[in-house]
Amino acid sequence: MKVLIVYYSMYGHIHRLAEAVAEGAKGVTGAQVEMRRVPETLPEEVLMKMGALEPQKTFAHIPVCNVDELTSADAIIFGTPTRFGNMCGQMRQFFDATGELWAKGALVGKVGSVFTSSATQHGGQESTILSFHITLLHHGMIIVGLPYSFQGQMRIDEMTGGSPYGASTIAGGKGERMPSKNELSAARFQGKHVTTIAFKLTK
Ligand SMILES: Cc1cc2nc3c(=O)[nH]c(=O)nc-3n(C[C@H](O)[C@H](O)[C@H](O)COP(=O)(O)O)c2cc1C
Repeated sequence: MKVLIVYYSMYGHIHRLAEAVAEGAKGVTGAQVEMRRVPETLPEEVLMKMGALEPQKTFAHIPVCNVDELTSADAIIFGTPTRFGNMCGQMRQFFDATGELWAKGALVGKVGSVFTSSATQHGGQESTILSFHITLLHHGMIIVGLPYSFQGQMRIDEMTGGSPYGASTIAGGKGERMPSKNELSAARFQGKHVTTIAFKLTK
C-alpha cells in the first residue's frame, strides 16, 4: 500500500506540514510512504527576489515528482500554499501535465486529500482546499478531509489552522510563524486517516 505526499513549498511551511502528514501515514502498519515536490516553475532570479532560495535549500533533498509516479500510489496527499485563494501555479502546472493520466482514468478510485498554508488567518485556506478538490474529482479520486474526530480543529483558545477540509497553517505576512503543535497534530491525523481509508479500500 503506497502513499505519496506531493507538495510545493516556497518558504518551508508546507514542507513542515508534509513531514507531519508523512509521520501520520507511517503510523499505519504496512504503509509505504514517500514525499515528493512538484517542479519549480519560477526562475531563480525571481525566487531570489522573493527570498525563497535559502528556505528551499532545506528541502532540496526531497525528490521531484514525475506525473507518472501518481499511478503507483493508492493514496495521494497534496500540499500547496494559498495563492489568491487557490492552489499555487507550480501545482497547477503539475496537474496540467496529467491529461494523459486523466484520459486513461489512471487515478480513478485512488484516495486524494489536500492540506494548505496561507499568510493570514482568513486568506483562503478553505477555498484553496475546496477548489483543489475539483481537480481531484475530475481525476475520479475519492476525497478525504480532516474529520472532527480531530478535535484540535474545535479550539478557540489559540489561533489555529485546520478545518474539515484538511490540515493547514497560518504562516504570517512575513512567513514568521511556523506550524503550531496543534496544526502539526492535524497534519499527522490527516496522514493517518487517509492511509487507513486507503488500506480499507485496497483490501
Ligand atoms: C503570489 C502570492 C499569492 C498569495 N496569496 C495569498 C492569499 O491569497 N492569502 C494568503 O493568506 N496568503 C497568500 N500568500 C502567502 C502564501 O500563501 C504563504 O507565503 C504560504 O502559505 C507559505 O507557505 P510555504 O512556506 O510552504 O510556501 C500568497 C503568496 C504569494 C507569493
